[in-house]
Amino acid sequence: MLFDERYISYEDELNELFYSLYNSSVGLNDLQFILRNRLSERAKDLKQLDEDRLKTPTWYISNKMIAITMYSDLFASNLQGLETKLDYLADLGINYIHLMPILKMPHPYNDGGYAVDSFRDVDPKFGSNESLTSLTKAMRKRGMSLCMDFVMNHSSSTHPIALAAKQGDKEAQAHYFFYDDRIIPDQIDSIVPSVFPSSAPGNFTFNKETGKWVLTSFYPFQWDLNYSNYKVLIDIVDSMLSLANLGIEVFRLDAVPYIWKQLGTNCRNLKQVHTIVRIIRIAMEIVCPSVILKGEVVMAPSELASYFGTKEHPECHLLYNAATMANFWDSLVSQDTRLLVEQVNSILSLPSHCHFVNYLRCHDDVGWALDDQVERQLGIDPLEHKQFVYNFFEGSFPGSYSRGALYNYDEITKDARSCGTTASFCGIEEALEENNKIKLDRAIQRDLLLHSAMISIEGFPLLSSGDEIAQLNDYSYINDPDRKDDSRNIHRSPFDWEKAKKIKEKGSYQERIYDGIKSLLEAKSESICFDKNAITSTWDSSNNKVFLIRRTNQDEELLCFASFSDNEEFVKTNYIMGAFKDLFTGKEIVPGWGFKLAPHEYIWAKKIK
Ligand code: GLC
Repeated sequence: MLFDERYISYEDELNELFYSLYNSSVGLNDLQFILRNRLSERAKDLKQLDEDRLKTPTWYISNKMIAITMYSDLFASNLQGLETKLDYLADLGINYIHLMPILKMPHPYNDGGYAVDSFRDVDPKFGSNESLTSLTKAMRKRGMSLCMDFVMNHSSSTHPIALAAKQGDKEAQAHYFFYDDRIIPDQIDSIVPSVFPSSAPGNFTFNKETGKWVLTSFYPFQWDLNYSNYKVLIDIVDSMLSLANLGIEVFRLDAVPYIWKQLGTNCRNLKQVHTIVRIIRIAMEIVCPSVILKGEVVMAPSELASYFGTKEHPECHLLYNAATMANFWDSLVSQDTRLLVEQVNSILSLPSHCHFVNYLRCHDDVGWALDDQVERQLGIDPLEHKQFVYNFFEGSFPGSYSRGALYNYDEITKDARSCGTTASFCGIEEALEENNKIKLDRAIQRDLLLHSAMISIEGFPLLSSGDEIAQLNDYSYINDPDRKDDSRNIHRSPFDWEKAKKIKEKGSYQERIYDGIKSLLEAKSESICFDKNAITSTWDSSNNKVFLIRRTNQDEELLCFASFSDNEEFVKTNYIMGAFKDLFTGKEIVPGWGFKLAPHEYIWAKKIK
């Protein structure tokens, strides 16, 4: 009954979508079958959540949303352990946890779980489907949502279907891209850039068992799935729905721009990708309308809007604000916020249904996706500048306070990305090493400054677990043969519960960072200037080193100043009347007259009525 009611409104569209992908509606019956079954299996409390969210469909667009991303094993050994640590997270205000991949994976080579042996079963290392269900239940009781990383571009080379393909099973081979010789692989390699140019160059891997070449856009043990075979799509949708029935509320669609391949193209962002995301969205709306999709789209800003779909035919609910993240870091070391302002404006100019997740660090490297056109307009040489930035974060640029590692340095193009934790990038590691109190104060201030700017912009903040206690880089990966070749491991280390105890010790650097971040998050969730109806814009602070966000709602006005300068700076705003008071220190200012900010100072000044 409920199924028919929901299905009917999508039937024609689904037909069209299937035709556009497969030239027939073959597969649609299978889809209908699994949708009906998964809906009938959905637990009562989850159906209730669906009903509640149907009444508030934009529940995720709220100033109350505060997220954290983590590896459950590094944080608390496993899912059961994580369940016992929810109080710790709740204290910080967290109500959304994004877990790195937890589904069955080969060991040890699994790209941090992004090689998947089963799309629907939890890896025993993390627990079981039962422990996942228990976790989501406990979280729901506290009003917390669980986001699962869902890999959809590839399976592992040890997935049962891949194993069958290796045995020569033709139907299994049709789930992947196999080629007998190098003719097509060479054509593809000549157009499609490598994702990991130094650690996994090229797009193909020779498979000894079959004597064929298989498409592996990422690592050789990650085999790209062939969505032009409808069975692949049906299987993936079915897996997602089974996981949603365990209480997953958000799916992070890993590497989604890559899922459709077409000869003669760069195999990124093709229109069929959108068709598939739309089918997934519809499947969710029919079976589990409380569940939302977060796309991992690390692409140029011009590509982003299309992943939200249109108002009538929406696709993802949320996307990562990756370019803004890179610009925050760039502004810090360049002491210049002009590129950042351009970037934030380009996001603000997107239609209102586009909603972003803001962050400083995640499990991946920082890719220096700066807008080279804007750089040139500002007289900046893009390549020279990129070299400066990644050398700075590596710590090799003279005078740099950062500690980090390069990632996928390309000898020929001189391109590289950067790895490291927020605290180490900001100079906390250096200051502690040198036991230098002045440097430590500066580094803490930088760390909080970046958090303040990130939390002030439109969208919701995603913290990286460990950043709230200023966790430093961990170099032990270099001695581990399984991890040494991937420098992202520098910022993937066990959560330090001993250091976390220090958040209760007044004046410790952990306490200063934790407390600073917590105050920012509280201010955000308490102020109506951050709610859905607020109007947000960048504003001219008359100083390129100082980033300014203006937020208004009803008769309230908030100015979030963030100085990216190593020196004291003078700022002065135009068209802003009256006196304001900093929410954190109580300091009063009249921005129209001008005032000074200390190095890396941030203030969130509320208009005094
Ligand atoms: C995404 C993940 C990254 C992984 C890749 C391959 O980009 O964030 O960690 O290596 O997908 O699945």
